[in-house]
Amino acid sequence: MAKAWSNRFEEGLNSKIFRFNSSLNFDINLLHEDIDGSIAHAQMLGECALITKEEALKIQDALEKIRLEVESKNFNSDEEDIHYLIEKKLIALLGPLGKKLHTGRSRNDQVATDLRLWLRKNIDLLDKDLEHFQVSLLNLAKDHIYTLIPGYTHLQRAQPLSLAHHLLAYIEMLNRDRSRIKDVRKRVNISPLGAAALAGTSVKIDRQLTAKLLGFDDVCSNSLDGVSDRDFVVEFISAASLIMVHLSRISEEIILWASEEFSFVSLTDRCSTGSSLMPQKKNPDVPELVRGKSGRVFGHLQALLTIIKGLPLAYNKDLQEDKEALFDSVVTARSSVQAMSILFEEGLIFNKERLALAVESDFSNATDVADYLVAKGIPFREAYEKVGGLVRFCMQNKVLLKDLKIDQWQSVDTSFESDIYEKLSPKHVVASRNSKGGTGFQRVEAEVQAWLKRLEIHD
Ligand code: ARG
Repeated sequence: MAKAWSNRFEEGLNSKIFRFNSSLNFDINLLHEDIDGSIAHAQMLGECALITKEEALKIQDALEKIRLEVESKNFNSDEEDIHYLIEKKLIALLGPLGKKLHTGRSRNDQVATDLRLWLRKNIDLLDKDLEHFQVSLLNLAKDHIYTLIPGYTHLQRAQPLSLAHHLLAYIEMLNRDRSRIKDVRKRVNISPLGAAALAGTSVKIDRQLTAKLLGFDDVCSNSLDGVSDRDFVVEFISAASLIMVHLSRISEEIILWASEEFSFVSLTDRCSTGSSLMPQKKNPDVPELVRGKSGRVFGHLQALLTIIKGLPLAYNKDLQEDKEALFDSVVTARSSVQAMSILFEEGLIFNKERLALAVESDFSNATDVADYLVAKGIPFREAYEKVGGLVRFCMQNKVLLKDLKIDQWQSVDTSFESDIYEKLSPKHVVASRNSKGGTGFQRVEAEVQAWLKRLEIHD
């Protein structure tokens, strides 16, 4: 049986209940944040003359020792959580002085502080991962401005694109992700420390000081809200869910492109696997796993919303369940972004011949024929009908638009001239889409340059 909780209790916890209650095996992740928070708290107690400055220094030194000890040890302890573990070790090292650290705070504001510090650090790391992925995509885009790829709507061939334009679309998605997590960071970076259990404290603490020492931008204004707010966790997992949605969409395209049917890319040996049975196979495990892992993060979002929705103020033990969901969301998002970067850096070889052939052999230039007539003064809807008829004729006769003779064009509309053949070529079709945000080569060149600058890449 575990030891009694305090003098208030006569008996210890049932050992199974103790294990059920314990969070140490996962909140050990908060080791550094808990130590940092305690060091700041001790310094503040010293500055406010609640303990002597000398005592504060002793506590700070001891906490640094505990950091090293806990960090290097393969973990096995019978403490309930990381906060108790560190406090017990402090008391073991310093005796009665160790018992002074918890003055003016509670585990409730402590755990909320730790979680915010941990998430702040990980948002910054995830932002770096996302930036790295953008750079990997941009490096590829730079080399593929003039590589053409079919563009789709409804997964039906629509209009040809510059491959770089397609890759730049991914960079845009990732940029929104980066801006979203930076926005969440603003609300993460507020200090609940000193809210104590729920009502604040009669001890004359200085909350602004601990906030400043820990790099927080401000302090939570309401103690009840400070200890019970987990909106920032929901906001982060929601942003992480969108990151996973983006990665999953990119993955799906790679999986399609790598199929025999598309054959737009082949996978290198460094980023693909074989089949245990079928010797001919090369499987796109990385994008498949990323697509699959998205489900974990969406699940964590649902879990968090459900955990919080019925909680009365302030702290409730249900909130202990926030941690594994948050930790796993971070690990999943970061490792997925990193794997996708590697895939785009060394895992994909675009099959240029196949892509060139693909954009030559379809009707994705039909809009351009209609636009050609529009330029000659024919109303768009009329031009659209005429070209529709031409496409039907071509399909019935198993030819492409470029195969039609000039008199066949002119029998549909006399304004067709021999320059129609040049206007139909995929290169011309792409080059002509020079509206802002379009796939025209000049636009794409300019976008690549703009991104090189934004991401501070120097050729
Ligand atoms: N292990 C707890 C958690 O993760 C720490 C806070 C406990 N506070 C309390 N009043 N029991 O939420």
